[in-house]
Amino acid sequence: MTTPAAPDVIDLLGYRIHVGPWMLEQVGRVAAEVAPAHTYAVITDDHVGPVAAPQVVGSLRHYAPHARVILQGITPGEATKTRATWHALTDWLLGERCGRDTTVIALGGGVVGDLAGFVAATFMRGVPVVQVPTSLLAMVDASVGGKVGVDTEHGKNLVGAFHQPAAVVIDPTVLQTLPVDDFRNGLAEVVKHGVIADASYLARSRDLARQILDAPTATDWTSNALARLVADSVRIKASVVSQDPHEAPGGIRQSLNFGHTIGHAIEGLLDFRLLHGHAVSIGMVVESRLGEALGVTAPGTCQAIRETLVALGLPTEVPPGLEITDIVDACRRDKKARAARAVFALPAAIGAMAVTPRGYGVQVDPDTIASSLKAGSTAT
Ligand SMILES: NC(=O)c1ccc[n+]([C@@H]2O[C@H](COP(=O)([O-])OP(=O)(O)OC[C@H]3O[C@@H](n4cnc5c(N)ncnc54)[C@H](O)[C@@H]3O)[C@@H](O)[C@H]2O)c1
Ligand SMILES: [Zn+2]
Repeated sequence: MTTPAAPDVIDLLGYRIHVGPWMLEQVGRVAAEVAPAHTYAVITDDHVGPVAAPQVVGSLRHYAPHARVILQGITPGEATKTRATWHALTDWLLGERCGRDTTVIALGGGVVGDLAGFVAATFMRGVPVVQVPTSLLAMVDASVGGKVGVDTEHGKNLVGAFHQPAAVVIDPTVLQTLPVDDFRNGLAEVVKHGVIADASYLARSRDLARQILDAPTATDWTSNALARLVADSVRIKASVVSQDPHEAPGGIRQSLNFGHTIGHAIEGLLDFRLLHGHAVSIGMVVESRLGEALGVTAPGTCQAIRETLVALGLPTEVPPGLEITDIVDACRRDKKARAARAVFALPAAIGAMAVTPRGYGVQVDPDTIASSLKAGSTAT
């Protein structure tokens, strides 16, 4: 077994993000330092609780021996990310007589992170939250940036807040128990980070991810290489967010939207039956093809992105049965659209995003979107 390297600490956003093997056992130390509390309320889900809660609760008891630790598991899955669950969790805290001297520990994937973060944002007008993401997607994306919230019947993430965590603690060894489809789901965002900011990172992460996917049981999951992959991805997202914390129109945070205009359209049309990362994977192929058609993206970029995604077992073609006109219409209804013209964040090449006089968003007319969707898809 590899000796774990010292944890990486990313400090670009006003709070520390700790990444390293066996960091679950350090959650108590970090929380006691940045968010001392009378009660630590650990919120998790019923998949993650059995594999990760004992280490986290044990660590809190060890490093904060005078504090009370309480634990609540929710039903796993997006369907739980609702106001009803927020209601039940806040009632649980009130029933436990928690006050302002409470710190929430969000232990789980993006669903737990968004929900527990929103509970923390609103409970007693805001108590600290320490994010402990356990899915790859939550590690490299959802836990970084302070967006928290819940879904409504009108759409996803429509009720929420910005609530920055007191700290983020990432232990990549917990990924051992993550189902492979969820691992791939997170890899799509890893690829996105490589495309927007760093070609060599993209190549390195593709190679390591392939090794893990090819031999999931043989891989040394405690490897420092996996921790580095996650830490470098977090660094890319944190660097973008730090330059544009409030998502200014045309600002650099929009570059994180690469693959997402088409991705969101496909996800919505399929009623979220396709995992987000899988939809974004298809979106990155279509959008880089679109960039090439517009002369914004260097020729060959789309092909290189496609090959990487195929190597990772991610989908690259629009699923059969979807109408191209429906996808184009959904892009025009996207919340980033301007005057019914869809807006895309497009790469200039692998490792750099295109910037126009209007910033990182490129407005595209419906016919051009339709022809990029038609090329290389079975949709009509
Ligand atoms: N706040 C943000 O900026 C942001 C960004 C991206 C996504 N999100 C949100 O994140 C959510 C998706 O996150 P997700 O993909 O992590 O979904 P998720 O939380 O539903 O986790 C996926 C599945 O993996 C399980 N799981 C998680 N970690 C595990 C582990 N270590 N071992 C075994 N099982 C494990 C979960 O129980 C669940 O069944 C969406 O709600 C999305 O809106 C938020
Ligand atoms: Zn995404």
